Amino acid sequence: MGIGSGFGKVILFGEHFVVHGVPGIVSAIDSTVDAEVKKIGEEITVRDERKGAKGYTEKKRAQQKESIERMLETMGIDAEKAVLDIWLGGNLPSFSGIGASAASSVAIARALAEEFEMDLSDEKINDVAYEAEKAYAGTPSGIDNTAATYGGLIWFKRNLMGGPNTIEKLSMREPAEIVMGNTGIVADTKEMVAGVAARKKRNPEEYDWLFKQAEDLAFAAKKALAKFDLRKVGELMNANHRLLQEIEVSCKELDYLVDLARTQGAFGAKLTGGGGGGCMVALTPGKLQEVVAAAMEKEGFEVLRTKIGVQKYKGKN
Ligand code: MEV
Repeated sequence: MGIGSGFGKVILFGEHFVVHGVPGIVSAIDSTVDAEVKKIGEEITVRDERKGAKGYTEKKRAQQKESIERMLETMGIDAEKAVLDIWLGGNLPSFSGIGASAASSVAIARALAEEFEMDLSDEKINDVAYEAEKAYAGTPSGIDNTAATYGGLIWFKRNLMGGPNTIEKLSMREPAEIVMGNTGIVADTKEMVAGVAARKKRNPEEYDWLFKQAEDLAFAAKKALAKFDLRKVGELMNANHRLLQEIEVSCKELDYLVDLARTQGAFGAKLTGGGGGGCMVALTPGKLQEVVAAAMEKEGFEVLRTKIGVQKYKGKN
């Protein structure tokens, strides 16, 4: 049996913009998807026992199947002969926006490598997971699988020319508490990414201006994180949410949770990930975390209390 795991993530700055080459900042969170793979069975079966996976797995079943086929192909494993029993679990809930697909792809890729006795570097695992992400996101930037593979706090810039992406380790003086609030809506990242690309094509001038602002925000956020100026980071998150509203990837449930977090004192809040549902993130250092999380739970939303800057980056640079 092969086993593997991948980190969940929170995009702090730049989702969607990052697909088009704008830099983004992502933090792995302290929860993983774990996978076990066994070469037995009549066909490929997936037993998804992740928390919150029910509606999620049903909606993503076809994409999950495609993602596994893509991984097998990239790893040179004959899909016809691969009679596999795949189990998924771990403590990362299957919410949209939390990196559940990328974390599961990394976990499965690692478990496959172990089961098929392949000695794959993290770089190769990341490449395999990127191929898998195409099933979920269409034209992914690579930011999610990178965080899922290496952990840590990462500055990421997609190389639009097809060369290696920029993956830079960032660090924070100490971890900071966040709350991830789930709208409960399972969103389709592929549709969201395609929607932005179509609107960008139709309104090049407006979108160029918005994308330039997203880039400026990412650079400012990098500086604020380095100085551990969490008030500034929060302000920039608020500004990032406004840009995400402008490119039409927010929704009323996300805006509601973002407003609720701010009213409860969060330093800043924004949607995170693909939008259209899924999760938002609020920066809630110290005791604020419980205040904000409890307020969301009182309204019937599921939340994840976690931290950024906890996981150590395991890459080379
Ligand atoms: C999804 O978590 C992040 C997106 O920017 C897609 C991607 O970067 O692959 C929406």
